[in-house]
Amino acid sequence: MALPQRNPLAKHWNLDSNCVFLNHGSFGATSTAIRGEQRRWQDLLEDEPVRFYEDLAMEFMEDARKALALMLKCDAEDLALLENATTGVNTILRSLEFNEGDEILVPDHAYQACRNAIDYVSKRWGAKVVTVNIPFPIESSDQAIDAIMSGVSERTVLAMIDTVTSPTGLRMPFEALVGLLEGRNVSVLLDAAHGIGMVPLNLDQLGASYTTSNCHKWLCAPKGSAFLHVRKDHQVNIHPLTISHGMSFPLGDSTRFRHEFDWTGTRDISALCSIPATIDYMATLVDGGWPAIMQRNHDLVMEGRRILCERLGIEAPCPESMIACIATLRLPAGGGAGIPLHEPDPLHKVLQDKHNIQVPVWSWPSPEGRYIRISAQIYNHVDEYHYLAEALAEELGLN
Ligand SMILES: Cc1ncc(COP(=O)(O)O)c(C=O)c1O
Repeated sequence: MALPQRNPLAKHWNLDSNCVFLNHGSFGATSTAIRGEQRRWQDLLEDEPVRFYEDLAMEFMEDARKALALMLKCDAEDLALLENATTGVNTILRSLEFNEGDEILVPDHAYQACRNAIDYVSKRWGAKVVTVNIPFPIESSDQAIDAIMSGVSERTVLAMIDTVTSPTGLRMPFEALVGLLEGRNVSVLLDAAHGIGMVPLNLDQLGASYTTSNCHKWLCAPKGSAFLHVRKDHQVNIHPLTISHGMSFPLGDSTRFRHEFDWTGTRDISALCSIPATIDYMATLVDGGWPAIMQRNHDLVMEGRRILCERLGIEAPCPESMIACIATLRLPAGGGAGIPLHEPDPLHKVLQDKHNIQVPVWSWPSPEGRYIRISAQIYNHVDEYHYLAEALAEELGLN
């Protein structure tokens, strides 16, 4: 079968033409223009490294923070630029001090790498990890709110909440949850890895203690670009994982938080420097800019989900209001059971090698089964979901 067409906007990417790419969610994908932009920054750096780092880098990083702050509706001074959301989560967890018996709350849909960081830190301090089960399938956001709030106790000091969950693709009611949790003196660490560029974020209004998001996923910035937002009242307690010059640098009219996070040793900041151009460039690709991109991706993933449900004879596991631009479905035929979340199901390889489709398939314990997660980005076309549906029907013996 011939490979399906992509959206005409795919001409702005250089995605492998032999691949039906339905997994923007895992690592994003960067347009050709922004790949060129990053190379431009790398060249500028290597043309005169000393001038770049000593005279220019801080200004470039400030430009990136300002561009992000405009989109995130927050103070640029409250942002730290990092390589990825895992680093953002670790930065918070490993800066905080816990008392024995303190409780850290985390839903069972959390991203495993970030959950590992919670387990690591809890063990060191003698804190307790309270895992709450979020039902899946789920009927409403209220069910998620009830599940999470029922796990809060007098001892809860921190909760890690997702904007959009990785294994189950649920757009969480994070705005309401942040208000409820912070209102009970529980600091929220918002894992917004699937955040900027996927869902609108208004960080000052949101009021979460800590928010981290990847720019290399839904913003389509180059790999190794992310931010951490720390509310002003917490900044004195939060330090980068790498302690460097910033700790002793004369304060001037800046903050210790700024100094410490702006210099964590020599690193390639070309991806971070590319953020302002990425924000502007992507917005030119679709009439209506970023809000239109998010809406369009949402509509397309909903259509993709409908196509798969219909062809495979399965029910959608959550309402449309709990979908952003990724959607997870439980496949009708078993298989894959017992394979941990982070190992791909053999079906993933069959889809990749035999049908040229890149889409994640994994097992998930709650409830146990085999799951597939589709993504929608502006380069995708509805025909790609039809193609996936036919491939799945063939492999699952549903013809
Ligand atoms: C919910 C969630 N948190 C954190 C991450 C980690 O992102 P990174 O590997 O860029 O740190 C991911 C990646 O997929 C994710 O989905």
